[in-house]
Amino acid sequence: MAISITSSSSVIVLVVMIMCCEVLCSPNPQCDPDYPDEGPPIYERDVELLQFAENLEHLEADYFLWGAFGYGLDKFAPDLVGGGPPPIGAQRANLDNQTQSIIGEFGLQEVGHLRALKSTVGGFPRPLLDLSKSNFAKIMDSAFGRKLDPPFDPYANSINYLLASYVVPYVGLNGYKGSNRFIRGYVSKDLLSGLLGVEAGQDAVIRHHLYERGEQLVHPYNITVTEFTNRISELRNNLGMCGIKDEGVFVPPELGAEMRTSSNVLSADRNSLSYPRTPKEILRIVYGTGNESVPGGFFPRGANGKIALQYLKHQD
Ligand SMILES: *[C@@H]1O[C@H](CO)[C@@H](O)[C@H](O)[C@H]1NC(C)=O
Ligand SMILES: *[C@@H]1O[C@H](CO)[C@@H](O)[C@H](O)[C@H]1NC(C)=O
Ligand SMILES: *[C@@H]1O[C@H](CO)[C@@H](O)[C@H](O)[C@H]1NC(C)=O
Repeated sequence: MAISITSSSSVIVLVVMIMCCEVLCSPNPQCDPDYPDEGPPIYERDVELLQFAENLEHLEADYFLWGAFGYGLDKFAPDLVGGGPPPIGAQRANLDNQTQSIIGEFGLQEVGHLRALKSTVGGFPRPLLDLSKSNFAKIMDSAFGRKLDPPFDPYANSINYLLASYVVPYVGLNGYKGSNRFIRGYVSKDLLSGLLGVEAGQDAVIRHHLYERGEQLVHPYNITVTEFTNRISELRNNLGMCGIKDEGVFVPPELGAEMRTSSNVLSADRNSLSYPRTPKEILRIVYGTGNESVPGGFFPRGANGKIALQYLKHQD
């Protein structure tokens, strides 16, 4: 009896050891990636659309890395720069510790995004980016329809930096939502949904920070944080030229969820779904010109890749 107990417990021990080894010594067959077994993993149109997104990822990577650390992609991942020119006017921002950690995390996330994109669909050298104070000041002046005095400085403090950040990942998320319907390959879809998830998360973190401080005045202007978000969103809607796809952190109830709330920590449509934007709309916004054929703003020489270059060719 005693022997049989011992032998059955040693059997159990053996089984447990084998199970541990399954987990620790070899990949778990229960968790093999699950891909459809038909159709190409990546289509040609997927490549164009995902490469287009690299423009925005480059903009975010250098803006966040420089803001948090005082240096950018050239130092973190020179292989992803591809010999593109250094960004104009990028600098470290004067951030509080928590904001610095978050922005640093975002910047590092963009490095991963660029690596994933470039290793999956290839890419191009980083386009020339204008991250200068004066470029952001110009954007804010356009948003308010007058010259702010003194000029808006995105690098002066955390709230200014986050207001300037409000300008960026949201447009990326609109772009991924807009591309989604044209993306067909399963590897492309996998990449796009992973990027969309994190871009949306970044946007939510930035918006929440601004939402909490909605009533605060942005020094030295007599303008609240909420009004800044409303004006920037309105500017993007005007430049995009395709109706309302962008909303500040507090809105008239007609624009809120179920048309029942002014609280608008996330920007979304009538059914609370994210708004889509086409590459053309995105270029009009990030160029700041309202014209996808006329470069400017963050991309003084235009964005890169087949889609953006096609529009630039129509320049006269
Ligand atoms: C912020 O971080 C710096 C450097 O790590 C530290 O010296 C400082 O005490 C921190 N400030 C606050 C308010 O936590
Ligand atoms: C600031 O703006 C508020 C609301 O627009 C206005 O009532 C107030 O007079 C302004 N204060 C200054 C100092 O301009
Ligand atoms: C955009 O710019 C191009 C090149 O300057 C011009 O030909 C075109 O008419 C502009 N489009 C609009 C809608 O203004």
